[in-house]
Amino acid sequence: MQPTVASALRSALGALASSSTPRSDAEELLSRLLGSSRAQLNLLGARKLTRPEATRFATWLARRAAHEPVQYITGRAAFRDLDLAVEPRVLIPRPETEGLVEVVLEVLRAEAPRWAAPRVLDLGTGSGVVALALASEWPAADLTATDASAGALEVASANAAALGLAGRIRFLPGHWFEALGAQERFEVVVSNPPYIATSERDALPEDVRSFEPPQALFSGASGLDDAREIVEQAPRHLVPGGLLALELAEERVHQVAGSLQGAPGWQAVEVRDDLARRPRYLLARASVLR
Ligand SMILES: C[S@@+](CC[C@H](N)C(=O)[O-])C[C@H]1O[C@@H](n2cnc3c(N)ncnc32)[C@H](O)[C@@H]1O
Repeated sequence: MQPTVASALRSALGALASSSTPRSDAEELLSRLLGSSRAQLNLLGARKLTRPEATRFATWLARRAAHEPVQYITGRAAFRDLDLAVEPRVLIPRPETEGLVEVVLEVLRAEAPRWAAPRVLDLGTGSGVVALALASEWPAADLTATDASAGALEVASANAAALGLAGRIRFLPGHWFEALGAQERFEVVVSNPPYIATSERDALPEDVRSFEPPQALFSGASGLDDAREIVEQAPRHLVPGGLLALELAEERVHQVAGSLQGAPGWQAVEVRDDLARRPRYLLARASVLR
């Protein structure tokens, strides 16, 4: 007998017992499969799944039970107001990174009288989330997005085209600032760089450890190799008073902030919390007098 939406969801909870979030996983998988929203699933309880739908749902549940992230199974991820394509060549966008976009928007609002068309650089763009959200939410911004991974840039460019934002973002391949001309300067440099120490690998959930791209996760023995390189080179690519905004591990963000306090080239160094009240964002301004 073909299952209804309600019975398929009930049996999915058992199949996903190994997940820490079985209900939301099951609802996300089934709503994506049916092309509905999660809220609409309640109204569809009596609807029968077609045979192909039921087969596909069973396959998806088996993949999730084997720890594959929901977003890689469905190929989609939500980020702020956007719905994006994701796949194993890119990190799955995280809620914390929505907060990184928010702190950048806050500065763009405050600086709007001075920065009419702010040049914004997103380093390590992955699926393109940060650049795409900023392009969508700050129409005056002039975006550049880079990544060392050609695969990530393909995904990000395809997302930009699908969202009608391709004309707003310049995508460049390369190692951090090496993707740019030596003289290029920006009002804002934003990045969510890799920030996990290699020694922390075994402590990561299997969903992350076995499925997400290592080059998006790990940053040397300290977890700080990439953040240190970005911080060291950023002053050469920021206008005076320009903003550097980084998302970092809560265990290390104060260490990086401490290295900038009072250092030549930097002023107004601060650490901000994410929505879960964990210190995650480092904000610093390039010195006005240099
Ligand atoms: C933590 S992921 C962030 C992706 C995306 N910005 C997000 O927030 O979902 C880090 C990104 O930096 C890129 N990356 C790693 N090392 C890099 C390097 N040396 N130069 C440029 N990009 C790099 C990775 O390919 C990955 O896409």
